[in-house]
Amino acid sequence: MKNSKFPTDSLNIHTELIMPGHTNPLGNLMGGNLLSWMDVACGISALKHSGHISVTASVDNVSFKLPIRVGDVVIIKSHVTRAFSTSMEVLCEVHIQNIEDNTETLSHQAFMTFVALNKFGVKVEVPQIETQNEVEQKLYDGALRRRELRLVLAGKLDPKEAKNLKKIFLT
Ligand SMILES: CC(C)(COP(=O)(O)OP(=O)(O)OC[C@H]1O[C@@H](n2cnc3c(N)ncnc32)[C@H](O)[C@@H]1OP(=O)(O)O)[C@@H](O)C(=O)NCCC(=O)NCCS
Repeated sequence: MKNSKFPTDSLNIHTELIMPGHTNPLGNLMGGNLLSWMDVACGISALKHSGHISVTASVDNVSFKLPIRVGDVVIIKSHVTRAFSTSMEVLCEVHIQNIEDNTETLSHQAFMTFVALNKFGVKVEVPQIETQNEVEQKLYDGALRRRELRLVLAGKLDPKEAKNLKKIFLT
């Protein structure tokens, strides 16, 4: 196992001002633009953690709960929650900033998984995560279950082998 890193080491903060070219005819941000920014933001977090170019292996469910309007400022915060062997789970939170009263509203949240590759495109091991507080530890613990669910959905894990997922449903 390589040296460990803190979740804060991979913190990436990306800011966008929503312009007319980002929106649909109603003046709301198109989901695809947001997904693209989230992907880049999380990819940078994975790069900061691993020190390698990292490719998107999966994107968990993203629910578009609140419309984001032209003129809004959007802040995308991401960091690695847990690292496995060559893969990393990255949490991405999207906030809408109100410039007038300097408040932020959490509008979207998603987990993405990245795999670190060397310059030949070969998978490489990544540092483990060391948590520093309860919130980070909760995310770290939950990452095991989320990983099993994504691997089951991707057809890479037999549901019978998903021990941590079973604990939720069978206890
Ligand atoms: C992601 C990728 C590198 C995985 O390579 P692979 O040889 O199929 O992967 P493996 O089954 O050996 O798994 C490698 C790691 O990825 C993880 N992984 C693979 N598929 C995954 C999925 N669907 N969701 C989450 N993690 C996944 C595995 O759990 C494993 O993690 P670990 O090393 O930490 O244990 C490969 O499928 C790939 O290059 N995909 C395209 C990536 C890309 O181009 N993304 C941009 C899309 S446009």
